[in-house]
Amino acid sequence: MKTTIHQVANYLEQEVTIGVWLSNKRSSGKIAFLQLRDGTGFIQGVVAKSAVTEQTFELARSLPQESSMYVTGKVVEDTRSPFGYELQVTELSLIHEATDYPITPKEHGTEFLMDHRHLWLRSKKQHAIMKIRNQVIQASYQFFQKEDFVKVDPPILTGSAAEDTTELFHTKYFDQEAYLSQSGQLYMEAAAMAFGRVFSFGPTFRAEKSKTRRHLIEFWMIEPEMAFFTHEESLTLQEEYITFIVTHVLDNCSLELDILKRDKQVLEQIRSPFPRITYDEAIRWLQEQGFEIEWGEDFGAPHETAIAEIYDKPVFITHYPKEIKPFYMKPDPQREELVQCADLIAPEGYGEIIGGSARIDDLSLLEERYKEHQLSGDSYKWYLDLRKYGSVPHAGFGLGLERTVAWLSGVEHVRETIPFPRLLNRLYP
Ligand code: 4AD
Ligand code: MG
Repeated sequence: MKTTIHQVANYLEQEVTIGVWLSNKRSSGKIAFLQLRDGTGFIQGVVAKSAVTEQTFELARSLPQESSMYVTGKVVEDTRSPFGYELQVTELSLIHEATDYPITPKEHGTEFLMDHRHLWLRSKKQHAIMKIRNQVIQASYQFFQKEDFVKVDPPILTGSAAEDTTELFHTKYFDQEAYLSQSGQLYMEAAAMAFGRVFSFGPTFRAEKSKTRRHLIEFWMIEPEMAFFTHEESLTLQEEYITFIVTHVLDNCSLELDILKRDKQVLEQIRSPFPRITYDEAIRWLQEQGFEIEWGEDFGAPHETAIAEIYDKPVFITHYPKEIKPFYMKPDPQREELVQCADLIAPEGYGEIIGGSARIDDLSLLEERYKEHQLSGDSYKWYLDLRKYGSVPHAGFGLGLERTVAWLSGVEHVRETIPFPRLLNRLYP
């Protein structure tokens, strides 16, 4: 029976054939242990000299790392293996013999691994991170479908900027100028007026000259937008969404978290509600701790990390000064210099994973903001229309997928949380 490693439990004590790559091996004169992977999982193949032809045994002993083959054998339980099963090999059929695979089981430097990212993806740790990424995506679709959201796909090529205009990737669009999307938000606001509750999942691009462990040039964002939602209601949805993702990953990625040596107890504490502090309180607390930061300045990574360390859950920092936030955020009715927004800061130094706000729904106020931000022009006319025809209070947010995966996986740098990272100095592979 042809199957996959993930399915072997269904074939206990039976003979199966699986297409695999050899990730590692050791052997003696009488027995060879092959570490096999097929993408769905990992399994050890045991080749006993007495159980196979001489030719098969010699093949097992001589095969180079990453050679591909069909392996046939009996599935048996193996309580010592983290995967639970082992294959007693009866036959090997070589597909392709690999030569000099560059990533050996020894340690390699980061730049070397990044240059070989197309191969590095095969390794156990990278495989585990990508599986977690996949489950965060699955959880997001499940959560928003359950909450009556419609998935809407905003464009990637756009004529208007949503966030800071200094971070735009420009491209030619025949005889016009276009940008790669920084955020689908403005389009999602239009979609929310058509479908009520919507979410998107897509790539976004920021020409940020930041070389930190939290910044990618190309990253993926999940952007929900909700008509008739207040800022407070949006925060409640955000904490429920994060709780859902964490629970889903704990339920579905136990093995992967073990491979990454991630402390599951830390993740098990992540349950809504999450703590909330205002920007004012955060500034005051930071100043008391000796940080040199003035009211009106934005937080940097050290500030966020210090605040996050107070809590064992993600923390919302709310009500920032409008000067350091984008044009579309709705003012706080009590204090016009603040906006109804929140950044959600992950624990353990992983930084901001969500940015969100209530949106201005008043036409004249939005027009005023356009002027202040020098955002005149035809490219925003359609966005103003949303405030002319049945404008309603609405709110939304964007979750950065890679930062979320880095936090859940416990990996230091976001570059390992996306298959082919685009970084300041890297467009290869
Ligand atoms: O805070 P940001 O810039 O918010 C927006 O783009 C809003 N328009 C979203 C919305 O309300 N619909 O980005 C949202 C999130 C951040 O919290 C962070 O997790 C992630 O996107 N992010 C990045 N991730 C990796 N590399 C970068 N350069 C990132 N910039 C933002
Ligand atoms: Mg932000």
